[in-house]
Amino acid sequence: MPSSKWRSLAVVCAVASAAASVLIATPAHADGTLRGHAEERGKFIGAAIATSPLANETAYRNIASTEFNQITAENAMKWESTEPNDNQYTFTGADQIVNFATQNNQQVHGHTLVWHSQTPGWVQGLSATNMRAAMNEHIATVVGRYANNATVVSWDVVNEAFNEDGTFRQSFWFNTLGQSYIADAFRAARAADPNARLCINDYNVEGINAKSTAMFNLVQSLRAQNVPVDCVGFQGHLAIQFGFPNDIQQNMQRFANLGVQVRVTELDVRMQTPRTAAKDTTQAQYYTNVINACNAVTACAGVTIWGFTDKYSWVPDTFSGEGFALIYDNNYAIKPAYTAVHNALDGGGGGDTTPPSTPGTPTASNVTSSGATLSWGASTDTGGSGLAGYNVYREQGATDPLLGSPTTNSFTLTGLTANTQYQVYVRARDGAGNLSGNSQLVTFTTTGGGGTDTTPPSTPGTPTASNVTASGATLTWTASTDTGGSGLAGYNVYREQGATDPQLGSPTTNSITLTGLTANTQYQVYVRARDGAGNLSGNSALVTFTTTGGGTGGACTATGTVQTQWQTGYVIQPARVTAGSSAINGWTVTFTLPAGHTITGSWNTVLTVSGQTVTARNVGFNGNLAAGAFGEFGFQVSRPNGNTALPSGYTCTSP
Ligand code: XIL
Repeated sequence: MPSSKWRSLAVVCAVASAAASVLIATPAHADGTLRGHAEERGKFIGAAIATSPLANETAYRNIASTEFNQITAENAMKWESTEPNDNQYTFTGADQIVNFATQNNQQVHGHTLVWHSQTPGWVQGLSATNMRAAMNEHIATVVGRYANNATVVSWDVVNEAFNEDGTFRQSFWFNTLGQSYIADAFRAARAADPNARLCINDYNVEGINAKSTAMFNLVQSLRAQNVPVDCVGFQGHLAIQFGFPNDIQQNMQRFANLGVQVRVTELDVRMQTPRTAAKDTTQAQYYTNVINACNAVTACAGVTIWGFTDKYSWVPDTFSGEGFALIYDNNYAIKPAYTAVHNALDGGGGGDTTPPSTPGTPTASNVTSSGATLSWGASTDTGGSGLAGYNVYREQGATDPLLGSPTTNSFTLTGLTANTQYQVYVRARDGAGNLSGNSQLVTFTTTGGGGTDTTPPSTPGTPTASNVTASGATLTWTASTDTGGSGLAGYNVYREQGATDPQLGSPTTNSITLTGLTANTQYQVYVRARDGAGNLSGNSALVTFTTTGGGTGGACTATGTVQTQWQTGYVIQPARVTAGSSAINGWTVTFTLPAGHTITGSWNTVLTVSGQTVTARNVGFNGNLAAGAFGEFGFQVSRPNGNTALPSGYTCTSP
C-alpha cells in the first residue's frame, strides 16, 4: 500500500485561523474553514491552482492557503508545461505550486502524465518505439523529481482514455501504442515513485454509465494483472442544465469495492448565463450532493474543486454561454455553493454526532472455497445525516481488516482462502461518518482445500491474439468450466519456451493484455485454467504471434566495446549502431546491465534506465544512417569492486 507519503491530515487550526484573519472576503470562517472540517473527517478538500494569480494576487493566495488542504496544478504539471521540447524540462510553475503547498501544509496531486491534450506535437508524431520510450522517460523524470518530496502524494497517470460509449479514445497514444500504453504508464510511474498513489482520471464517469463501466472493467483487469492502479478520479465537471448523476455514491462504492481509493478531482458546476439566485441554489445542491457522496464512501479520499473563484475558471473559455461554476464569485465573495460545501463537510451544519443503531448479526450463505455472501438486519440513523452504509470487518485480534463498505445490508466476500475459518462483524455508518457499535460475529469456514476437490477445470479454448503492437497483445480464449466443487478461480498464462515456461499473468477472466513484450519477436503462448483448490487444467493449444516494430528484422545491429576499466567501473566506447541493408532514420538500442552495475554517465545518446534494462536512443546527429553505415555513442558504468561482468544483449530497433 503506497501510504508512507500519505501525510496524516493533522488539523492545522492554528495556521488556518491565523491566515483567516487576513482574509478579505467572508463571514463564514467564524464557523471554521473548509479544510478544518475536511480534516476532522480525514478527507481532503482541494482546489486547482493557476500559477499567475498565485504569484500576483494576495486574495487568491490567502483563500488558496486557508480554505484548502490539497492542491492540483491547473496546468503547470502538464506535459506541454514540463517538457515542451524533447528532453528539455522546465519545472518553474510546478515547483511554484509544490513550494506553496509545502509552506501551507497541503498535499499536491500531480496532474497529469499521459493525456491526449496539452501534450506537445513532437510527442504526437513519434513512432511506436520512440513514443513509448518518450512516455517512460517523461514519467521517470517528472514523477522522479518529486519522488522524495512529501508534498506530492499522488498522480493522474492516465487522463481521459475513454470515449462516451466506453470504447478507448482514438488518441495518438492509443492509435500508436494500443491499450498497453495504459499499463506501461502505470508501471513506469510506480518505478519512479513507489510511494505515490497512482490514479486513472476521466470525465462523465461520475454516475453509472457505459463510460464508467468501461473504466471499472479496465481497473479490475489491470489490477488482476498487478498493474499498479491505486486510485480512480472522477473529474466532476457538472452542469445544472444536465441534471445530477444520482447514482454517484453507488458508482464510487463499486470502484471502492475493487480495492482502489476514489476521489473527485475537478469538481465544478456550471450554469448557462445569466447567473440567477435560483441557479445558485441548484448549483449549491449539486456541490452538497458531491461532498455527501464522498463523505459516505470510506474509500473516497476527498474532493478537489477545479479552481475556487469565478474570476479564474476554464468554463467561460470552454463552454460558450456558460459560467459561474465555482464557489467564490469574481470578487472573492462566497456564493451559496461555498456554504453548501462548508455545511456538507461540517456534517449538515448542526454536526451529527449520533451513531446509527448496531446492525443485526450477519448470516453467511453461498459459502464456497473463495467467497461467501453475508446479510444482516439493517440499522437506523436518527442523528440527521442519514444512514450511509456499513463497514464489514474480519475479526483478527489487534487490527481487524476492513473487507468492504457496502451501501446496503448485504455483502459478497470474494478472494477468500479455501478451507479457512472466518469471523466477520459489521458496523453501520452515517453521512457524518459516525460508526455504530460492532454487530455480533458470524463464523463460517470456506470449503475446498484439504484435498476435497481434486478435479481440474476443463482445458481452455485456443487463445486468439488481437491488438498486437511492438510491445503488447491482447489474448482471449473460450472459458473453462469447473465441476470439482471449488469453482473456477481464473487462468495462468504461459510463454512456451522449452524446459521452463515463464508465467506471463494470472487473470481472473478469459482474457489478458500482455505488455512489456520485445519488438519484432515471435511469441507462443498457452493458457491453463485453475480452480479454487489450486487444480490446474491441461494446456490449451498454442497461439503464435509476432510483435511489430523493429523494422524488417535486419534494420540495425548494436555492439559495445570496453575502452577502459578500473576496479569499480568501466567505459563502453564506442557503443556502435550499424544500419542493415536499408537506410534508417533513428534507432533504439536496449541492453542489460549485470546485477549491481549502474550507469554513471553517457554521451551522444538519451538513456532511460529501468532496473537493469537500459534503453539508448539516438540524438540529432547520429540517428540517420545510410545502409551499412554506423553511428556511435558511449556510457560509463560503476560496478561492485572487481566484478568483471559486462553489459549484454545489445538489441537494436528502428525507427
Ligand atoms: C483545463 C484548464 O483548466 C485550462 O486552463 C486549460 O486551458 C485546459 O485544461 N480535464 C482536465 C483538466 O483533466 O486538465 C482540464 O483543465 C479540464 C478538463
